[in-house]
Amino acid sequence: MPDNTTPSADQPSTEPAIRIGGLQHSFGEGELRKQVLFDNELEVARGEIVIMTGPSGSGKTTLLTLIGTLRTVQAGSLNVLGCELRGASARRLIDLRRQIGFIFQAHNLFESLSAYQNVKMAMELVGVAPSEMKPRATEMLSRVGLEHRIHYKPAELSGGQKQRVAISRGLIHRPRLILADEPTAALDEKSGRDVVTLFQELATREQVTVLMVTHDNRILDVADRIVNMVDGRIKSNVLVKESAKICEFIKGCSVFTQLTPRTLTQVADQMVPEKVAAGSVIIRQGEPGDKFYLIRHGEVDVIVEKDGTDQTVASLGEGDFFGEAALLTGEPRNATIRAKTDASLYWLGNEVFQTVMRTSASFEEELRKSLFERQ
Ligand code: CMP
Repeated sequence: MPDNTTPSADQPSTEPAIRIGGLQHSFGEGELRKQVLFDNELEVARGEIVIMTGPSGSGKTTLLTLIGTLRTVQAGSLNVLGCELRGASARRLIDLRRQIGFIFQAHNLFESLSAYQNVKMAMELVGVAPSEMKPRATEMLSRVGLEHRIHYKPAELSGGQKQRVAISRGLIHRPRLILADEPTAALDEKSGRDVVTLFQELATREQVTVLMVTHDNRILDVADRIVNMVDGRIKSNVLVKESAKICEFIKGCSVFTQLTPRTLTQVADQMVPEKVAAGSVIIRQGEPGDKFYLIRHGEVDVIVEKDGTDQTVASLGEGDFFGEAALLTGEPRNATIRAKTDASLYWLGNEVFQTVMRTSASFEEELRKSLFERQ
């Protein structure tokens, strides 16, 4: 059981998952000493998917193993899920390791154990209740398309199938951070895509952070950030254009379905991402309205105060919007909106909102309809 000094999932979600400052690393001693990492800085937010690229020998794997607590930090600072690794006690490192999922290229599967038994072993290490093991392992192996291979041993599986067992084993204990080294290298295009889609689901729904080393340019599109390493130094650290992602998301939200691609892109360009922690108030009843919100993930409660008592009248989730009423009517906010879970939102300022309304009759129509339905 993790002790109470353990950094855990209940850390505030705004704290970065990884914070690296002045990190250096060398191998060998004396004259043979060779420095492989030089003064690296990096910050990765929770729920971010980061792809690390760079030539072999550039230090990517060393960095990955340092973050995974598999090597000792020698110089600089490395904070992972709220825990400073430099000088951390062995106990703390073990607790932290339980929150990390490792997917390394060399599968290291036990040849004498079936796919199911290999995955089960990972659950035994973190103390999952025995009754939960079978359904969990079956679900995970099915998610990676191995439902018909559950009882096969590694020798009876192809390279790609073995890799998928390794992926299941790395994810089965529901880690907060996934560290993966070339996870899709042995996979065909479809299986590779399935694996990164699974990563995306975990990142979006559960704020799991993913850091993967890859040269597979078929999957670059899932990255929120691409970090390139050369000669032990982070050479570039690019945040992939958020608006392309927003556009992809809002296309599927009912209120925006009628917008032309051009307007969609314009809206996405103006949307501002905001993360809120569970319990925080986003809108307060009675205050003037200035923003329109869309929920990227998470849930919020709509609370209406009447005759001195608060009543939760609705809960809204992914793809829902709120805050339209005050902007449409000019009246004060008609309800309080409080985050029920940690949530990611996008908001549009009033001015942009009014412009979109003028450009798209269908957008206004959808909103007016909801105004009526939400009375
Ligand atoms: P606004 O009045 O700007 O701010 C509070 C928001 O709560 C309001 O816009 C709506 O978006 C939302 N809201 C109010 N009542 C309901 C309801 N019954 N169901 C869903 N959302 C609501």
